[in-house]
Formats: sequence, structure tokens, C-alpha cells
Amino acid sequence: MSKLHIVVGSTRPTRAADLVVPWVTQRAAAHSAFDVELIDLRDWPLPMFAEHWGTIGDPKDPTYSDPSVKRWNEKVKEADAYLVVTPEYNHSVPGVLKNALDNVFVSFALRHKPIAAVGYSVGIAGASRAIEHLAHMAIEADMAPLRTSVLIPYVGTAFDDAGAPRDPMTEAALGVTLDDLAWWSTALEHARAAGDLTPATFRLRAAAEAAAR
Ligand SMILES: Cc1cc2nc3c(=O)[nH]c(=O)nc-3n(C[C@H](O)[C@H](O)[C@H](O)COP(=O)(O)O)c2cc1C
Repeated sequence: MSKLHIVVGSTRPTRAADLVVPWVTQRAAAHSAFDVELIDLRDWPLPMFAEHWGTIGDPKDPTYSDPSVKRWNEKVKEADAYLVVTPEYNHSVPGVLKNALDNVFVSFALRHKPIAAVGYSVGIAGASRAIEHLAHMAIEADMAPLRTSVLIPYVGTAFDDAGAPRDPMTEAALGVTLDDLAWWSTALEHARAAGDLTPATFRLRAAAEAAAR
């Protein structure tokens, strides 16, 4: 089984995320490929990213600027795959989600793992622009952002009284996304187990130092 983190990207009181997250969590838990853990950023009040060489200490076992950042990196590292539930704020993801991802910068805990998104908004956009931004962030984290995603426009009326989506294509999209995440997760678990590459940034630095000599 792949370890899947479902990350809740909004923390504000009265968030619409609470309409979406129970459905996503239930469907993911019912998928045979995954051992699911819900990661609610409300439970992770991280400082705004503040790391520098002085806070890191030993790069192989960083100290970090705050113990919560170390715990966060250790938690993130446990997963093989990530499904992010995110609204759209100013055509991107909420700052709290961006900051949570920035805080993984030092440990490479997200590297060579797949990430997909369930996006929602009160309007017609369904967080499509936020999900595109999230994919760009994932590239820098050396992840495998998936093509498939779930877009939920008009989130306030998107679910029935039982908490299921009214549009059958929303259900279908989540099923396809979970299947794709499972495939990529298994593929990358095998690839990581067979031996990983040193991060490109270090190899490029070595090349630059060699060229300067
Ligand atoms: C700061 C902020 C910016 C927003 N920007 C967008 C936006 O760019 N596009 C959009 O469709 N909705 C936007 N919205 C509306 C959100 O889709 C809506 O508030 C949604 O409920 C947010 O999710 P949440 O309640 O789980 O935090 C924005 C809301 C906030 C608070």
C-alpha cells in the first residue's frame, strides 16, 4: 500500500474545505492502493519560512528555525503520494499552503513523489488557476505533478445532503485521479528504492565548481 497524505490547504474559520474534505477522504480510504492520513494545516501552525544556513545545521539532519518545522518535514517525508485539497485565492493557492510547501525546501521530503489536487471555489473557476500554480511549485520540489485533477466550481451547492457531489463527473474525476496517483506512486516507490539521484541543484553546483577550477 502507498502512504497517501490528503493535505487540506485552507485553514480559515468557516472554510468551504469542510464540504469537500470528508468526501475526498472517504473515497481515498476506500481505494485499495492507499493507506490514508489527513493532514490538516490547521494542526500545523508553521512559522513563515525562515530557514538559512544558521538554522539548518547539519543538512543531513537539519535543526530548522523551530521544532514544528522539523516535525513537519518528518511528517511530510512519511508519504509516498499527496492529494492536496485547495481553494483558489487570488488565482493561486492560499498562502498557508504555499508556506507549508516552502517549509519542506531543505529536506527534499517531497522529491520524486506524485502530487494531485482537488480544487474548489465559490465561482466558476473551480480553482483551475490555483492547481496550475500548484503544479509549478511541485516541479521545483522535484515532484511528479499529475495531469489529472478534480475541479469543483460553485462549491456551496456542489454536494448533496449526504455529502456526495451532485455532478457524477466530479465523482468520476476523483476516481481517475486516485487511480493515477496510485500508478505513479507505485512506479516512483520502485524507482526510489532502486537508487536515487543526488538532487540536480547539488550536481549543478559541483559542475560549476569544476568549471571554475
Ligand atoms: C483571499 C481570497 C482570494 C480569493 N480569490 C479567488 C480567486 O482568485 N478565484 C476564485 O474563484 N475564488 C476566489 N476566492 C473565493 C474562494 O473560492 C472562496 O472564498 C472559497 O470558499 C475559499 O475556500 P475556503 O472557504 O475553504 O477557504 C477567494 C477568497 C479569498 C478569501
